[in-house]
Amino acid sequence: MIKVERHITVERSPVDCFRYLADFSTCEQWDPAVYRAEKLTTGAPRVGSEFRLVVSVAGRRRTLRYRIEEMTAGQRLVLRGRAAGLETTETIKCTADGNNKCRIDYRGEFSLRGPLARFKPMLKPLTKRMVRHAMDGLQRALTINYTAPRQGWASYIADRSILAGEALFTDRGYFAMSNRSHAEFMDGRVVAVTGATGGIGRAIAAEYARLGARIVLIGRNSQRLADAAQYVHDFAGADATAVDTIEADLLDISQIQKAGAELLERHPQLDVLVNNAGAMFDTFEHSVDGIERTVAINLVAPFVLTEAVMPALLAAQGRVVNMSSGGMYAAKLDIKALAGTPDSHGALSAYARAKRALVALNAHWSRRYGDAGVIFNAMHPGWVATPGVADALPRFNAVLGPILRDARMGADTAVWLGASAAAARANGAFFLDRTPRPTALVPGTGFKPSQAQSLYAWLRNTTGIEIHVLR
Ligand SMILES: NC(=O)c1ccc[n+]([C@@H]2O[C@H](COP(=O)([O-])OP(=O)(O)OC[C@H]3O[C@@H](n4cnc5c(N)ncnc54)[C@H](OP(=O)(O)O)[C@@H]3O)[C@@H](O)[C@H]2O)c1
Repeated sequence: MIKVERHITVERSPVDCFRYLADFSTCEQWDPAVYRAEKLTTGAPRVGSEFRLVVSVAGRRRTLRYRIEEMTAGQRLVLRGRAAGLETTETIKCTADGNNKCRIDYRGEFSLRGPLARFKPMLKPLTKRMVRHAMDGLQRALTINYTAPRQGWASYIADRSILAGEALFTDRGYFAMSNRSHAEFMDGRVVAVTGATGGIGRAIAAEYARLGARIVLIGRNSQRLADAAQYVHDFAGADATAVDTIEADLLDISQIQKAGAELLERHPQLDVLVNNAGAMFDTFEHSVDGIERTVAINLVAPFVLTEAVMPALLAAQGRVVNMSSGGMYAAKLDIKALAGTPDSHGALSAYARAKRALVALNAHWSRRYGDAGVIFNAMHPGWVATPGVADALPRFNAVLGPILRDARMGADTAVWLGASAAAARANGAFFLDRTPRPTALVPGTGFKPSQAQSLYAWLRNTTGIEIHVLR
């Protein structure tokens, strides 16, 4: 048997530390050896809850199944793990250590069986090293960072080299982040997510729910909304009142306004709005409001919904996350071209223009509402394997499949932007992997504040909606 003990101290309450650890699937956020972890049982973690971990050991992936054997709420957790040739018993204890500090003690017992037992002399130091790295990761994960996010020189250079920059759009970029944790809880706060019935949006909603936020899922199909709400409950172990749904087709301005009014009525304070819904269209068609559909869903829908719920965002001093795309780097802000024409329509170019305009709108909003306390940031989720990508870009999906991100990786920055103390110190920026990135890389694609203001005027004219007047 290999026995390993280690402890760390963090500036968090034992209750917070225990809550984060009891959903043991969070270990994928802090243990560098864990590639993937998921909770297999639904509901809040309790004795009997099971987890599946995919762990990389010496370059090979192994699957372990864990079960919570004992649990003393807020204090102690005993987990038993099993894999071929390996059985582990791991005990985690959280104890108050002075003023709002917590000491976390870890004790692991690893029994090797069969052919694996022969490698014990080699595996002992490896196991100790893995535990050390995991505990260091846990300490980082639980330590709240208040520093304003900044781009380091390595990613600055990578952004300016096409190959390195695009490589970071794959899962490599996600794994290159030094901290992937979501450990800042959001009890009592309200988060609304559009496009929450699948792909990245559903993963965003699920992670916010795990942090304790009340979630409003916005989607166009009642059955898919009900399925997504069930998924979020099961993932987060949230109670039945924590997830709410609103039905609206975001290609229709009147339905968006109705959804906004409903959201305002149910939640006079909205802490986070994630404008995630988006799509790419091969053919040129107008929405019911006479707007080219790519522009309607990726630009007009976030504009109308955000303005509609602005009183609730102002009341909560909330944050807005606008889901753009790295594709926007290919386009300049061209307001006239947003109308589109059937002859010049291309799915990718229309998408790039709309996502570029969303980044310009984000910058304008941050100036317009920043002093009133609402924070706006836009982001690129990376290249993510979702139903939308499989449908719109089947060849891209087939070729890059193995290195595409999964939905939770694509969701990461959208959750961090709404939940973390560090992200509250950014406004009007464009993020990838929790790092602010340049909004223009190709010469001639940058925009001035006056152009973003003209875009805002164009959106007001095109939609005819009332915008919020600041007093
Ligand atoms: N995946 C990527 O690699 C990638 C890269 C860059 C940016 N993005 C952006 O990330 C966001 C999410 O992308 P994804 O890949 O997760 O897309 P997805 O799998 O296609 O999911 C899109 C979501 O938007 C909803 N939606 C689409 N049209 C709608 C409408 N008219 N009314 C209401 N809801 C509507 C869909 O609802 P239904 O279930 O009803 O269809 C779905 O929930 C998008 O803004 C996308 O542009 C994605």
